[in-house]
Amino acid sequence: MRLLVCGGAGFIGSNFVRLRLRECGDEVVVLDKLTYAGRKENFHDFGEDPGFRFVHGAIEDPQAVASALDGGPGAGSPIEAIVNFAAETHVDRSIAEPDAFVRTHAQGTYVLLEAARERELRYLQVSTDEVYGSIEDGSFTEDSPLCPSSPYSATKTGADLLVQSYFHTYGLPAVICRGSNNYGAYQYPEKLIPLMILNAMHGDPLPVYGDGMQVRNWIHATDFGRAIGHVLEHGVHGEVYNAGGPDECANIEVVKRIIELTGAEESLIEHVTDRPGHDRRYSLSSQKVRALGWEPRVRFAEGLEQTVSWYRENEWWWKPIRSGDYRAYYERQYGRSLA
Ligand code: NAD
Ligand code: TYD
Repeated sequence: MRLLVCGGAGFIGSNFVRLRLRECGDEVVVLDKLTYAGRKENFHDFGEDPGFRFVHGAIEDPQAVASALDGGPGAGSPIEAIVNFAAETHVDRSIAEPDAFVRTHAQGTYVLLEAARERELRYLQVSTDEVYGSIEDGSFTEDSPLCPSSPYSATKTGADLLVQSYFHTYGLPAVICRGSNNYGAYQYPEKLIPLMILNAMHGDPLPVYGDGMQVRNWIHATDFGRAIGHVLEHGVHGEVYNAGGPDECANIEVVKRIIELTGAEESLIEHVTDRPGHDRRYSLSSQKVRALGWEPRVRFAEGLEQTVSWYRENEWWWKPIRSGDYRAYYERQYGRSLA
């Protein structure tokens, strides 16, 4: 396929592009604003591939979207589908500064939908389990009510509803794929797993919010990427598909496993003030996408071990982050500096 991948310089987007180039022989144009989370380093092993082109720009900018879709120097054949990963993705940042979340998720999604409608393109919106809110027992299905808790999840929910309105009103061939918490290589270290791995490697305290008994349903980014590809190819237009990981784990257990894998001291664990409005548990039922033929391949125990090894072996990737703006963010968020 020939795809426009928005937000393809981020964590999951770049893993997705790598899979599509390597496993499917797709041609891919990435449109990305390169926020703090978007990095050209994530293209290090495919940036020169003939089937790949990068356009620097924002999804809320119609001209940037047009130049990514309609070509210019290096343009290949016409794009068939838009896959939208572009988002502000950190709940804590959405609590501190929600404005970019509204701009990117509302205005940005609208601009992409208009571009898809004008050119009659397929459209896939990458979404999250957080749109359903928290669940004590059982798992959310695609029919569960939407009940987001944070500015991040509320604006992602708004984007999903706008996508559905374009299917219902204009017949846009759109699908939505909602993933559970992702982990794996190339994840920005503000998120739980890479933050804990890098802090453990450096002997920095491991800040666990509240009692640490919040549960997340972990999916490896390559499994989520394959689910998105599967939904793009086989999903029914207008439908939503949940893609949840095979395992759930309480945060404190995740941190303890990282301590074992890095050989750090358990005394580094520090229980800190809880996140406001913190969702207790996420859990997705993936029956519907499994019925389409997708299965997750990576169990959490194995994937976490591989992820710790990746961060150990790829200092070139995280060192510039940990010595750059991320330090100031960390001080604002945690009230202390990194070692
Ligand atoms: P990320 O923060 O690593 O990457 C986001 C990317 O989007 C970055 O490259 C950034 O530069 C780009 N971007 C941000 N605003 C933009 C804009 N206005 N225009 C163009 N590009 C812009 O995020 P991620 O973890 O890779 O998440 C990707 C998608 O998957 C998001 O839509 C997110 O909601 C969804 N998702 C994430 C998770 C998770 O656990 N990380 C789980 C489920 C769903
Ligand atoms: P995060 O990676 O921010 O993802 P999300 O909020 O989208 O689930 O956080 C995962 C869980 O880890 C969540 O329950 C919050 C918790 N957490 C901590 O306990 N300490 C931290 O420093 C961070 C970043 C997260």
